Amino acid sequence: MKIFIDTADLAEIKDAFSWGIVEGITTNPSLMKKAQDKQGGTNLEEYVKKILVASRGTPVSLEVLGGTAEEMYAQGKKLYSKFKNYGAVVIKIPVNPSVDDNSKVHYEGLKATKMLSEENIPVNVTLVMTPEQALLAAIAGATYVSPFAGRIDDHLRKQRGKEFGKLDYFNKHGIKDSKGNLITDTGLVSGVHLINSIASIFRNYNFKTQILAASTRNARQVREIAEAGAHIATIPFPVLKEMIHHHKTLEGMKAFTDDIVPEYRKLFE
Ligand code: E4P
Repeated sequence: MKIFIDTADLAEIKDAFSWGIVEGITTNPSLMKKAQDKQGGTNLEEYVKKILVASRGTPVSLEVLGGTAEEMYAQGKKLYSKFKNYGAVVIKIPVNPSVDDNSKVHYEGLKATKMLSEENIPVNVTLVMTPEQALLAAIAGATYVSPFAGRIDDHLRKQRGKEFGKLDYFNKHGIKDSKGNLITDTGLVSGVHLINSIASIFRNYNFKTQILAASTRNARQVREIAEAGAHIATIPFPVLKEMIHHHKTLEGMKAFTDDIVPEYRKLFE
């Protein structure tokens, strides 16, 4: 499984890439806002170029804003042509993009995905909450699908009550309500279950579309996402650090350091 970094924060991106284990970046409008707020406002176009340069030629997902297929197609083409010389741009398209002012739901994400994919522009279909959305995105020619594991867990937790924090581990086998019944969303008991189901479907039909597990919230969830067969997990910087950290590793390192004798130091001279 590959690791992408889920941030638009340039400092985090540079730090994570320096470790040599990151192979892509995902952004969204909220992550861009967070990065902009941290910078105290910035020229976003120049900032995106810096992100692309920092990505060292690996895929960088940039999200469109439109509600109709035509808008998303035009925005995708614009982003792609504007930034393609700076890095490997991937256009992020919401599977089911919007509700308009008249409460009409637009189901145009797949159409935009097909239009862009047919022009060999890589598409990452985002906000995927069910295996059937992922199946349709794969049929439409998506290069990546982004199932939001953490947000499914948030949704299930909310139904159960407030005992879980957003970053807490959520049992991949699900949680029960006060009557002892498993809490489900469209039959799914956890975010990891969502990834597992998509992986089985893609394997059954040999889809080339890659599962880019998103909305990852803690190290243990990333482990289970890897077990479930995701091709990629996109991970926020604090979760990436959590994956590296263990108190016994630190304790062991301290003991080794305490035991260094002068003769051992001489080996390095
Ligand atoms: C990445 O592609 C997603 O936009 C991101 O993982 C969403 O994460 P969140 O649910 O923590 O906001």
